[in-house]
Amino acid sequence: MTPQAKQWLSEARRIAVLTGSGISAESGVPTFRGQDGLWRTHRPEDLATPEAFARDPKLVWEWYDWRRSIISKVEPNPGHFALASLEDRSPDFQLVTQNVDGLHERAGSRRVHHLHGSIWRVRCTECGAENNDGRVPMPVIPPRCGCGALVRPGVVWFGEPLPGKAWMEAERAAAACDLLIVAGTSAQVYPAASLVPLAARGGARIIEINLEETPLSGVAGLALRGKAGEILPQLIS
Ligand code: APR
Repeated sequence: MTPQAKQWLSEARRIAVLTGSGISAESGVPTFRGQDGLWRTHRPEDLATPEAFARDPKLVWEWYDWRRSIISKVEPNPGHFALASLEDRSPDFQLVTQNVDGLHERAGSRRVHHLHGSIWRVRCTECGAENNDGRVPMPVIPPRCGCGALVRPGVVWFGEPLPGKAWMEAERAAAACDLLIVAGTSAQVYPAASLVPLAARGGARIIEINLEETPLSGVAGLALRGKAGEILPQLIS
C-alpha cells in the first residue's frame, strides 16, 4: 500500500468510486473477462443482448438462473465492506457500480448507482411491470408475467441504454469528485468506462485497483496492483 494513496484519500473531500466485477471476484462471483471469466465459455452476443433473448429466451434465462444461484450463495468480501465504511465517513461519497449482484448493498453501502441494473430484478417485455424476484432456482424458465408475456432479467444488455437517472448521477459524481477510485473493472465497456476520463478532466486524482493493467491505467495517477479485497481495507485503515 503506497503512502501516497493514503495521503490522497485523507486529502479528498468528494470521493467517487467505480466498481466492476473484479470487486466481487473474491466473494466467488466469476468475472466476465480474464482467465476464469464468464465469457470464456460463452460469447456475450449469445447471452447478454436483446437479440439473444428474442432468439432463445430459455438459454438466456438458464445463464442468468445459474449466475443467480452462484450469487445467492456468496457473501460480500472485505472490499465491499471497506467501501461501505468509507461511505459512512465521507459525506459526499458516491458509489457507481457496473455490477448487478447486489453485494455492495449487502455490505452496507447505501448510495449506490447501478449502471447495469440488478440480477435480482425482472421486467415484463410487454407491460413493463418490474419487480424484485429473488427466487433461486427460477421455478419456470423462461418466466412469464401475469399478462402472459415473457419476463426478462432487469439488467442492461449490450446495445441497450443505461438507466437515465443512474447515468446522470454517475456523470455528476465523476465530474464533481476530487478523488475517483476505480476498482475491479477492465474498463472495456462504455459508457461506464468514460466516467474515468470525465473525472480526470474535472481535475480529480484517480486511483486504479486491479490485478492487471487496463486501457485506463494511463489515466490513473496511482495504479495499485492486487486484490481489491486486500487493498481497499488497507487503504481505508
Ligand atoms: N481485485 C481487483 N481486480 C480484480 C480482481 C480482484 N480480486 N479479480 C479480477 N479483477 C479485475 C480483472 O483484472 C479485470 O480487469 O477485474 C476486472 C474484471 O473485468 P470484467 O470481467 O471485464 O468485468 P467488468 O469490467 O465489470 O465488465 C464490465 O461488461 O460484461 C459486461 O455488463 C457487464 O458490467 C459488465 C461490464
